[in-house]
Amino acid sequence: MSHLWETDAEVAAAVLGEIRRQDETLEMIASENFVSEAVLEAVGSVMTNKYAEGYPGKRYYGGCEYVDAAERLARERAAELFGAEHVNVQAHSGTQANMAVYFTVLEPGDTMFGMNLSHGGHLSHGHPINFSGRYFNVVQYGVREDDETVDFDALRELAREHKPKLMMVGASAYPRTLDFTKFRAICDEVEAVLVADIAHIAGLVATGLHPTPVGVADFITTTTHKTLRGPRAGMVMCSEKWAKDLDRLVFPGIQGGPLMHVIAAKAVCMAEALKPEFKTYQQQIVANARALAERLAANGLRIVSGGTDTHLMLVDLRPVGLTGKVVERRLEEAGITVNKNTIPFDPEKPFVTSGVRIGTPALTTRGMQEAEMEQIGDMIARVVKDIENDAVVAQVREEVRALCDRFPLYAEMKARYTAEAKKRGVEA
Ligand SMILES: Cc1ncc(COP(=O)(O)O)c(C=O)c1O
Repeated sequence: MSHLWETDAEVAAAVLGEIRRQDETLEMIASENFVSEAVLEAVGSVMTNKYAEGYPGKRYYGGCEYVDAAERLARERAAELFGAEHVNVQAHSGTQANMAVYFTVLEPGDTMFGMNLSHGGHLSHGHPINFSGRYFNVVQYGVREDDETVDFDALRELAREHKPKLMMVGASAYPRTLDFTKFRAICDEVEAVLVADIAHIAGLVATGLHPTPVGVADFITTTTHKTLRGPRAGMVMCSEKWAKDLDRLVFPGIQGGPLMHVIAAKAVCMAEALKPEFKTYQQQIVANARALAERLAANGLRIVSGGTDTHLMLVDLRPVGLTGKVVERRLEEAGITVNKNTIPFDPEKPFVTSGVRIGTPALTTRGMQEAEMEQIGDMIARVVKDIENDAVVAQVREEVRALCDRFPLYAEMKARYTAEAKKRGVEA
């Protein structure tokens, strides 16, 4: 018996549709992943019922014994995983993790630096339409036009000129290693606080596959749902020096009751990430990204910056005369999910773009390796190079389905939901 099917067959049918979409197509959005059943179980647990404003041992509500245990585990495991002195696991999202840090360090109107969105940055790093761009005086930095990597000379000049109080480093669409020590040196020169947002690369950082900002940056923010493969949420790490101010800013500064079911799931995610096999998984993510980028390049597609050091790559579609918008739609029709993405110095608007961003974390979770990446690289290239051809799209769609069938996802859940739908005669 399924409570969800009994109570609300419409939502249950939508969930089944999503289970099938995830299982039967290739999920290549760089910021997405597939959590374990254990993480799903914690997110769906009774901890969602509990109000727990405050922190473990110091709550504004009674009855917090068990949620305290979950939050302590999440904090301790995250501290161990990243080697951080202090961790706040209550941020509801990556954006709120960043907001907490800004409000800890800055006053409205203060100057902060963030990476230009079209050069790889994130909206919450000071984009004019985001709260960060509205509350603070934001100066944006970017990459060099020749090699499409961070332009440290220009950044140093800008820092000397504008003297920021805070500098954000971190990205949503930057395929190369970020040298946090170079940002630190510039921050030291102008006495700025350095904040590293490792939302995308958290899993790589946790396993030593990307240099860590711990001990280099003053604050480290992250999401827990990308390469880290945990629930949809955020987290902040810092040294003891900032701990009290940060905690006060998260609650009561910008949030109310913490999402205890999500915090419990963060604890589960950290336990999974502390296991040796998590490092093997991260190594495979990177190997898969390299294999895919090489195969796309071998098929004549231009990869921004010439390749990748991480879990993602950007394809520049200008040489083939296409936009990100068109390619995203045609690949989706072929069963391959990517997102249109601006590339450095993009002449197109953000809703059109000249690029697509492609990532390997989710497919690596399914067990796919280099051989599958090569196959996928060829499939993507076939669609891109013959974009109007419906027969090619249909053929690739079949090949995608066959590939997905070899790497089943949430199989037991899919069978259970499918049986319930059948019992009720529901088409999903
Ligand atoms: C670098 C970076 N920071 C912050 C965020 C924001 O996370 P959220 O969507 O949880 O607010 C993202 C999301 O993609 C991101 O890529």
